[in-house]
Amino acid sequence: MARHLITSAIPYINGIKHLGNLVGSQLPADLFARYQRARGNEVLFLCATDEHGTPAELAAAKANKPVAEYCAEMHEVQARIAEGFGLSFDHFGRSSSPENHALTQHFAGALSKAGLIEEVAETQIYSKTDGRFLPDRYIEGTCPNCGFEDARGDQCDNCTKQLDPTDLINPHSTISGSTDLEERATKHLYLKQSQLRDTLQDWINSKTDWPVLTTSIANKWLNDGEGLQDRGITRDLNWGVPVKNGTEPWPGMEGKVFYVWFDAPIEYIACSQEWAKGDEWQRWWRTDKGADDVTYTQFMGKDNVPFHTLSFPATILGSQEPWKLVDYIKSFNYLNYEGGQFSTSRGRGVFMDQALEILPADVWRWWLLSNCPETSDAEFTWEGFQSGVNKDLSDVLGNFVSRVTKFCRSKFGETVPEAGAFGPAEAALIETLTTRTRAYETHMQAMDVRKSAQELRAIWAAGNEYLQEAAPWTLFKTDPDQAAAQIRLALNLIRFYAVLSAPFMPTTSAKLFVAMNTLDTSWPDDVEAALTALPAGHEFTVPDNLFAKITDDEREGWATRFSGKRD
Ligand code: 2FM
Ligand code: ZN
Repeated sequence: MARHLITSAIPYINGIKHLGNLVGSQLPADLFARYQRARGNEVLFLCATDEHGTPAELAAAKANKPVAEYCAEMHEVQARIAEGFGLSFDHFGRSSSPENHALTQHFAGALSKAGLIEEVAETQIYSKTDGRFLPDRYIEGTCPNCGFEDARGDQCDNCTKQLDPTDLINPHSTISGSTDLEERATKHLYLKQSQLRDTLQDWINSKTDWPVLTTSIANKWLNDGEGLQDRGITRDLNWGVPVKNGTEPWPGMEGKVFYVWFDAPIEYIACSQEWAKGDEWQRWWRTDKGADDVTYTQFMGKDNVPFHTLSFPATILGSQEPWKLVDYIKSFNYLNYEGGQFSTSRGRGVFMDQALEILPADVWRWWLLSNCPETSDAEFTWEGFQSGVNKDLSDVLGNFVSRVTKFCRSKFGETVPEAGAFGPAEAALIETLTTRTRAYETHMQAMDVRKSAQELRAIWAAGNEYLQEAAPWTLFKTDPDQAAAQIRLALNLIRFYAVLSAPFMPTTSAKLFVAMNTLDTSWPDDVEAALTALPAGHEFTVPDNLFAKITDDEREGWATRFSGKRD
């Protein structure tokens, strides 16, 4: 049995995420976690809310709430929505947890002991109007790299370049809009990651099987311009992990907190401590405590790649302690919305809560995964969504289940019929399904999400084609025994589909198991045997229509509703 540690990038606490965020990390991570569990492997699947830094403070201020209260509420909201989408986290943690506070302070202490922390006297932007320093998202201006006018103090959303507030051209405060800014002296801790450059380069070079998207971004950061820069890991903010050297105070750093991007990835580990209060977490994270045989896979959008290929590994490697490093980083491009970007600020596109209001989670899961932005950016259009969902789910899978179960009920009753034997057509179908199932497994194991979806769709279609040609409804009149054998196979195909489709559509799959009245969810290592799992005489029920077709009226209504300001 293999052991899989799986993490999804932890979403910021500052509001409900849109479908582009969902498909860029949590959803494909869930697909992989569910697949690995279905194959009998041991899985620890973790996610959390990213609760520190300026995104949290700004959102709380806008909601007129104390930041701790805001975070606690939004965590519950995000947890409920995640559940609604069937995201099967073993734990959905909080980066503001006591565990993460302690572990973040521990890492800072270990890095300091290793000589990798430097105290730097520097100037930061201070707003006299606001009476405070303006780190990260408290300041916006024009990106010096690409000219984008709404670049933030920490990163340009347009070109993904990491920035310092002092780099921005024509900066202004995002609190007051003030441009009355000055540079003031302050002191911060820097992680000397440039000293780890060669170690990181060797490590990245050894990852020959990683997606090009991942390694190309890592190499760009390692080699562009002056190469890997040392990084300020503290901020002049109130909300966050207080700066400490392990459990000791850090003289001169009073009143400061760690930078959100320093503590957020550490939450991957702290999350496992929140999950298992005892020592159980260690066998997932400590290579001296049994984590050597763990395969660790991270899922994230491309804007997160620099932090996961360089910054977090620098924290881990620099600590000189035996922590588990990531084995595989699956990164995604962006999903666009109707020819533009999803926009949280403008409420453009569909947000996770709204998506669940209008359609069942599985419909979204199927479309998003089968169209995920894997090798390039992808596009959500209502037309593409309507036609994809109607074709794949209603016309192919839903139609198959409905026809087979209803026909059987009317001719043989609600039990698997006994008569007849499989012939060459059935043997040919089993051979096709065996080949395709093995291909599906290969793609799922490789996290080739689109290819996996294509293969699953082809597996459903093979059943439809078989049924179309076999035409038991016609054959029944002349050879009822042969028609019975065909229906016996087709009913077994429904159970088979429920097993294979479960990672993509867990709720639909569960409905099919209920209708087929079976607890046998075992993976079809032997396809032929799997297609006789429901024996003659086994009772079943006809399920309700699995997928309603999306109508043109619905499509048009939704396109209008989600075009602008969030409702
Ligand atoms: O981009 C984001 O949404 C970040 N909150 C992701 C953090 S992932 C990690 F480092 F924890
Ligand atoms: Zn830019």
